[in-house]
Amino acid sequence: MDVDQLAQTAAAMVQPGKGILAADESSGTIKKRFDAIGVESTPDNRRDYRELLFRTTEAMRNYISGVILYDETIRQSGKDGTPLVKVIEQAGAVPGIKVDLGAKPLPFCPGETITEGLDGLRERLAEYRGLGPRFAKWRAVIDIGEGIPTWTAVKANAHALARYAALCQEQNVVPIVEPEVLMDGAHDIDRCATVTEFVLKTVFQELYEQRVVLEGMVLKPNMVIAGRKSPRQASVEEVAEKTLTILKRCVPAAVPGIAFLSGGQSDEEATAHLNAMNRVGGTPWRLTFSYGRALQAAPQKAWSGKPENVGAAQRAFAHRARMNGLAAAGQWRRELEEGAD
Ligand code: 13P
Repeated sequence: MDVDQLAQTAAAMVQPGKGILAADESSGTIKKRFDAIGVESTPDNRRDYRELLFRTTEAMRNYISGVILYDETIRQSGKDGTPLVKVIEQAGAVPGIKVDLGAKPLPFCPGETITEGLDGLRERLAEYRGLGPRFAKWRAVIDIGEGIPTWTAVKANAHALARYAALCQEQNVVPIVEPEVLMDGAHDIDRCATVTEFVLKTVFQELYEQRVVLEGMVLKPNMVIAGRKSPRQASVEEVAEKTLTILKRCVPAAVPGIAFLSGGQSDEEATAHLNAMNRVGGTPWRLTFSYGRALQAAPQKAWSGKPENVGAAQRAFAHRARMNGLAAAGQWRRELEEGAD
């Protein structure tokens, strides 16, 4: 393990005014996204769509620090034969790879999952290394409901995250540690705060026990936010304040950066919340984005699988990338949204 190299990569991923594009949807998830815009999910369509994002050169160069890829994409080349990893690197971003194998039902814990993929991970990481990714991602999923999350599920998922993170660092790959508390339920923001605190405390204890070097990782948490079905939705200020309170309680200052997931927030909400946190400022870690849906919903809709829409899709992506880049610097204003293409 080379701690300096890990720290350098992590610093590049959370550099000021930039954030991460999560383009690592599994084949099942991207099919759902394509179904919604009436596009058949074939390897070529997936390649064409992702290539149009990565070739949005100005936006990539200015606002995107890294891109998380799925196994299929990291092996694909663009239409002109350039490997997509090279396209990303040429735009000045760091390529990364999702290495978990998905969330599966956890025995004896109805409604809860455990993320799988540890078996053979050392060998998979060694193979990926030749393909160019310098960081990896593993997502644990924690749902909130009656009687859940259980300690069994939180502990098992935190342990797997820490084992994954250690295996990455062994091979100088920066682990993105993603414990996602879902916002699907009817719970209020305070319940989300309690559960997020419980999860993060457990994750950092496990990271310590597995000897993970905090300087060489990036945390990708949910924001502290009311469940989608809650009748009491919190204000932007309340989300920012409660998220910062919980993160300060749980995340050691040695962690270089926190890159939030969007988790089903609307595009503008995800931007406004990140911006509000950066306006408050004064945190020991950088706060940025690692958005999937909140960066891609607009370009997907604009593209709709039609070659003649590539330009419109790239403009839509460039706009969201810029809005979130500004939010990562605390410089976003709602009026800027109105100038959208
Ligand atoms: P969302 O921003 O759509 O939540 O996706 C981020 C991600 O990578 C989830 O693992």
